[in-house]
Amino acid sequence: MTQRKGIILAGGTGSRLWPITQGVSKQLMPVYDKPMIYYPLSVLMLAGIREIAVITTDEDQAQFQRLLGDGSQWGIALDWIVQPKPEGLAQAYILAEDFLSGAPSAMVLGDNIFFGHGLPAKMAQADSRSGGTVFGYRVSDPERYGVVDFAPDGTVREIIEKPAKPPSNYAVTGLYFLDETAPERARAVRPSPRGELEIADLLESYRRDGKLNVEAMGRGYAWLDTGTHGSLLDAGNFVRTLQDRQGTQVGCPEEIAFERGWLSPDGLRARADVYAKTGYGAYLRGLLRE
Ligand code: G1P
Repeated sequence: MTQRKGIILAGGTGSRLWPITQGVSKQLMPVYDKPMIYYPLSVLMLAGIREIAVITTDEDQAQFQRLLGDGSQWGIALDWIVQPKPEGLAQAYILAEDFLSGAPSAMVLGDNIFFGHGLPAKMAQADSRSGGTVFGYRVSDPERYGVVDFAPDGTVREIIEKPAKPPSNYAVTGLYFLDETAPERARAVRPSPRGELEIADLLESYRRDGKLNVEAMGRGYAWLDTGTHGSLLDAGNFVRTLQDRQGTQVGCPEEIAFERGWLSPDGLRARADVYAKTGYGAYLRGLLRE
């Protein structure tokens, strides 16, 4: 199988967080001590993915590039794709078709934060499966998400986008492992009443063909939302609480790259020097000593 490639979707107007996201892209907002996009980027790196396309609006792209560069500082390669208008998550696969060039993909939404000890193993399992794999996570407010409708025997009956009457409490998280047919399937998706190519419709195409795996992401995981001012602050507090208690970083690309051998000790030292004035830099230096 061709090596799976990554996509981070970081477009959109962030209008639900205005005015804070009127001048700066939502996915560049701080979640405690790091820009939001560091967290989903780290998730893809934990999945062992080193070729990643970042999809942004045209006007925000330069700021993302200033932050992330070409990825070589972490031993990965970043590609840049513009989404001219926020016309749906499924559109990302059409925009990324050339980048993917027939490879399967893992797409993560630039505002989704995942945390959990078993995440790398869970993603390795998803990587090894054929078709598509998504993760169902129990939430108290499913109407805000894509929701899984389970039949009594536990099979998936349908994935429904933002249902007024949710058939279950299981939301589909913003992390999608799809095979190489995703761009072709996305092209067959028609715009929804809100004018978007819905990811739920793309997932439905997999489900109808018996090719959709819905994996539970159980209570040992945190899937955090940054969609409201309150949940953005909660996510920051969550990261701060964990980091302060354990003395480890959540969402640290240098650490993941170093552990995987994508970054040499000299490379890590150079990164630590960049952040010499911060606790982040001290943390990176600490990794060299361990
Ligand atoms: C999108 C998807 C939805 C998914 C959610 C996860 O919603 O459409 O299916 O559950 O991301 O964050 P949006 O963020 O566009 O409201």
